[in-house]
Amino acid sequence: MTEAPKTAGTATLTLGDKSVELPVLSGSTGPDVVDIRKMYGATGAFTFDPGFTSTASCESALTYIDGDEGILLHRGYPIDQLASKSTFVEVCHLLLHGELPSASEFESFERSVTMHTMLHSQFDRFFEGFRRDAHPMAIMVGTVGALSAFYHDSLDIHDPVQRNISAIRLIAKMPTIAARAYKYHVGQPFVSPRNDLNYAENFLRMCFAVPAEDYVIDPALARAMDRILILHADHEQNASTSTVRLAGSSGANPFACIAAGIACLWGPSHGGANEEALNMLKEIGTPENIPDFIAGVKDRRHKLMGFGHRVYKNYDPRARVMKESADEVLAATGRINDPLFQVAKELEKVALNDEYFIERKLFPNVDFYSGITLSAMGFPTTMFTVLFALARTVGWIAQWQEMMEDPSQKIGRPRQLYTGPTERDYVPISQRG
Ligand code: ACO
Repeated sequence: MTEAPKTAGTATLTLGDKSVELPVLSGSTGPDVVDIRKMYGATGAFTFDPGFTSTASCESALTYIDGDEGILLHRGYPIDQLASKSTFVEVCHLLLHGELPSASEFESFERSVTMHTMLHSQFDRFFEGFRRDAHPMAIMVGTVGALSAFYHDSLDIHDPVQRNISAIRLIAKMPTIAARAYKYHVGQPFVSPRNDLNYAENFLRMCFAVPAEDYVIDPALARAMDRILILHADHEQNASTSTVRLAGSSGANPFACIAAGIACLWGPSHGGANEEALNMLKEIGTPENIPDFIAGVKDRRHKLMGFGHRVYKNYDPRARVMKESADEVLAATGRINDPLFQVAKELEKVALNDEYFIERKLFPNVDFYSGITLSAMGFPTTMFTVLFALARTVGWIAQWQEMMEDPSQKIGRPRQLYTGPTERDYVPISQRG
């Protein structure tokens, strides 16, 4: 269900003696946009918007966020409903194909994901080329890009069937690659996927089973893993998604585009915040140290990690679900009295009632509780961003597919405000002072 944008009126831009009427477009919900495509031709001026804080880079029907109200919808469905009633594989179908699947559609979609989980056996040699102390995200960037060298039969980006095969391959193989990155990092042998397990169970087993002992899957942990994947599946035009779109706009193959997205996600301002939030909780240590810590935040000695968001100026709807998952995982692992969880809950209570945070509309974001949850599940902090990449792969590839199907798609090529020297003549080295 995609609605074509409607023209809601025009905006007049006057620049010196030139004037141009610019169409104002309305989507199905959310702010209108001023369509400035004619502006340069009519006025000779560019717009200037570093960080894209006021610029819509594309049309999209996948995900809608209202940051003021704390709303996140995928194809119209609220994230809390998807997290409590759906499964990650069903959400993948929703994001890729626009609708929740019927029972038979689900069965065939899940089967095709399951049937693509294995990696070419030669692919394993890539892992062995990395040093043992390599960060798992370094391994992810390299190996996901290397998929392009293995799956030539799905690289024709102009063929919708091949695009779909690549999408399924990425969603299916990412847990296998992520688990291998982890196993290599900790020096344990790789564990192959098993087709009788669901997506989250399979991933947990590939991470935690060892030849000496199989991994007994706790349904509470498998459910929490599945929910974490749902919560991170897509988040409209964030930095890594925009990176995937920009890389794809040149006609690059989807495996290369997703590797670019992983590289962008690796940055601490994007994928690394839950690690920072967990470190902060460890540093605070016990609830008695919270007042001192809060005083430090107000004195700007440190930030309250896991609080605040560029878009959400209300409770991040994902944080609510993540808190429930943290509760469930800590109960299932016998850590309900985990001191870090007690610190987190007390810290949240204190911050939500403190004028400093209320005034600035600072609420917990998804990262506030995800570090505690993942750590209780047995993941080291170096794997946190890898798990984010695993979950976001479906969002990236669905956004890439949407871009490839958009008839107005062209190579992304921003302009600039040039501040360097104007034209000057070359001076031979012997004449330079
Ligand atoms: N702790 C303390 N103060 C904060 C925090 C925080 N976490 N976040 C914002 N503020 C304050 C700022 O100091 C500023 O105060 P001032 O007006 O007195 O100067 C005010 O709130 C507005 O902050 P901005 O930096 O303008 O907000 P912005 O929207 O640019 O920042 C960001 C968003 C980067 C996420 C920020 O809130 C932050 O650094 N949070 C901590 C890191 C974090 O949890 N990141 C995860 C984001 S979720 C995700 O990526 C999945």
